[in-house]
Amino acid sequence: MLSNYHKQKNYFPLFILFFFFAQACQKEHELSEEDFPSKLSAANIFSGTLSDLAPYSDYIPYELASELFSDYAEKQRLIKLPAGTQMTKINDVLPIFPEGTSIVKTFYYWNDKRDASKGKRILESRVLLLKNGSWLYGTYQWNSDQTEAYLLTSGSDQLVNWVDEDGIPNATSYRIPNMTECTTCHQQSMHVKPLGPKLHNLHLLVNNNGSLINQLTYFQNIGLMNNFDISTISAIPNYKDSNLTKEQKSRAYLDANCGHCHNPHGTSNDLELDLRYHTPLENTAILGSQSVLIERLESGQMPLIGTSVLDRAYVQQITQYLNSL
Ligand code: HEC
Ligand code: HEC
Repeated sequence: MLSNYHKQKNYFPLFILFFFFAQACQKEHELSEEDFPSKLSAANIFSGTLSDLAPYSDYIPYELASELFSDYAEKQRLIKLPAGTQMTKINDVLPIFPEGTSIVKTFYYWNDKRDASKGKRILESRVLLLKNGSWLYGTYQWNSDQTEAYLLTSGSDQLVNWVDEDGIPNATSYRIPNMTECTTCHQQSMHVKPLGPKLHNLHLLVNNNGSLINQLTYFQNIGLMNNFDISTISAIPNYKDSNLTKEQKSRAYLDANCGHCHNPHGTSNDLELDLRYHTPLENTAILGSQSVLIERLESGQMPLIGTSVLDRAYVQQITQYLNSL
């Protein structure tokens, strides 16, 4: 008892410190009503019926060549720059974004992937907002009526059912991340950053009013991106493209699903693994780590967070690739 008492006494200052630390972290996520209204309907992102996900015209939909796997959820990605501003290229990765840039990613499932008329279930809308040079972030959880979404900082698990493209019923425990989880993936060199809109991942053909156009050219045409020769940007391929080599496919998949943590600036920068697409194979530390990579992939231990089911089709192909090295 006595020693217990002493322990408590000794730890008391630590508790106090932790309390203030926790409070400080909490403060950081006290987003102002002006930047992050508590209701999504007040955020001026979607017009008309909220669940139609029809953005106001200042929000431009964009696509990524290779995207993050999130338990088969569908995603809508939107970007808005303040009127009269544009993104400026630095290199192949993130451009400079103007102050006030807002990026929104909404996660949903088709009730039946074979038939859109059966409707969808929207889970959350995540927002990144550039203010005073820092990216503020938050997510809105949709209600079950799909009439409103509310700012949520504490995370939540939701059971979702859907029928896949082969007509097979599926269920998953979909995770809405808490604020710490956002930073685990988004923090690069200690700062939260966007992860998707890197020039080499925006470099793909997209459909614009029925004709195909390179998305970077499209952005330049509408004034969203400064002018430069897009052929100087090295593209990341879409890992879903069946024409790719095993190596291209695997490296693109690892970039999109692991590279945000496994790079010299990411959360696991203390490890040698660098799983970004353009890092030459001999510098990735993949060679020599094949068996631990396969083990972590097949056991579902990696990715560390963000999924609750194995992306079987790709885990199998990557395993084959790793075994071939
Ligand atoms: C498991 C890792 C992971 C977690 C956790 C995560 N994100 Fe992301 N997020 C990504 C990746 C990777 C992308 C880009 C790829 C994509 O969109 O497919 C992305 C994209 C986004 C985008 C679109 C702009 C961009 O960065 O590409 C927003 C907005 C966003 N996340 C916000 C959040 C917020 C807010 C949270 C926490 C509630 C969060 N994310 C949690 C990995 C994560
Ligand atoms: C959200 C961040 C995050 C993501 C995403 C992520 N990892 Fe990790 N990974 C870590 C952390 C942190 C560790 C170290 C702790 C541990 O070993 O569990 C780690 C460890 C590993 C290790 C062990 C390395 C060693 O030297 O022992 C391997 C292999 C690995 N990850 C592979 C992957 C693969 C493959 C993916 C993508 C499918 C992935 N990781 C996605 C954060 C992440």
